[in-house]
Amino acid sequence: MKKSSITKCLFPAAGYGTRFLPATKAMPKEMLPILTKPLIQYGVEEAMEAGIDTMAIITGRGKRAIEDHFDISYELEHQIKGSSKEHLLDDIRKIINKCTFTYTRQKEMKGLGDAILKGEVLIGDNPFAVVLADDLCVNLDGDGVLSQMIKIYEKYKCCIVAVMEVPKEETYKYGVVAGNEIEDSVMMVTDMVEKPDPSKAPSNLAIIGRYILTPDIFQTIRETPVGKNGELQITDALLRQAKKGMVLAYKFEGKRFDCGSVDGFVKATNYFYELDAIVNQ
Ligand code: UTP
Repeated sequence: MKKSSITKCLFPAAGYGTRFLPATKAMPKEMLPILTKPLIQYGVEEAMEAGIDTMAIITGRGKRAIEDHFDISYELEHQIKGSSKEHLLDDIRKIINKCTFTYTRQKEMKGLGDAILKGEVLIGDNPFAVVLADDLCVNLDGDGVLSQMIKIYEKYKCCIVAVMEVPKEETYKYGVVAGNEIEDSVMMVTDMVEKPDPSKAPSNLAIIGRYILTPDIFQTIRETPVGKNGELQITDALLRQAKKGMVLAYKFEGKRFDCGSVDGFVKATNYFYELDAIVNQ
C-alpha cells in the first residue's frame, strides 16, 4: 500500500436513504450494490488506493449489515472453501486483512456536520478524508479522487472539498462554492452556500461527497449554528473555516455518480456493467 500523510477516512453512513424506500427500510443505503459490490466497498477501495488503512464509519440504527460486511463470515468461508465461487470473496478478504474498521453511532440524524463531529472520537487529532459512499467516483485514466486530493493537501495542508460543474438549475441539490483560482483546478474558497436556489447560487461549482479535513474542523462545527432544514451543515462549518484560514475547492478528474438518487444509481449500474463487459472480453 502506498504511504500517505492521511491514514484515516470517515464514512458518514447514518442517513435514512429515504429516496430508496422501501429498499432501505431494513437495509442501509450504503449496502445497495452496483453489480455485485456494495456502494460502501467502492468508497473503501478508493480510500485504500489513496494509502488510507483506517476506515471510521458513522452508523445508525439498522446499519449492522455494514459491520458484518467488513468482518469474516466463518460459516460462509467454510461453505465456499475450495468451490468455484471462492474467488468472489478475494477482494473483500483483502480489504478485511489490510484495513482496520472502527464504528460509532449517530443517534439522531442532525445533518452531515453533526455526523462528522460524531467521528471525532474515531479520528482524534489527525487530518482525515471523508467519503460519502453514495457518491461513487471513478477515474480510469489515473489516480482516484481521494488520491488526487491528498496530493493537494500535502502542498497546502488545509481543508479541501471536491467540486464539479453542474447545470445551474441543479444547484439547489448541492453545496455550492465560489472562489479564486490559485492553480489549475484549485480554488481558494470565498463563499459557500448549502442547496441555494439557482437564482442565488454563487456559481455552478457543486461540492460532491469527498473532503479532506483538518482536525480543527471539529471545533468549528461545534461553533456553527444549525442551518438549512434544521440540520448542522458541513458547508456552513467550512465557510467559517474559510473565513478563519483557508479552504480549497478542487475540480477533480474522473466521473462521479450520484447513487443516492435512483437515476444516478441506474447510470452507475449501466456504466460498470459495460466496463465489466469490456474487461472480460
Ligand atoms: P443525504 O443527504 O444523501 O441523506 O446524506 P440520506 O438520508 O442518506 O438520503 P435521503 O436523502 O433520505 O434519500 C448525505 C450523506 O450524509 C450522511 C448520509 O448517510 C449520506 O452518506 N448523513 C446525513 C449522516 O450520516 N447523518 C445525517 O444526519 C445526515
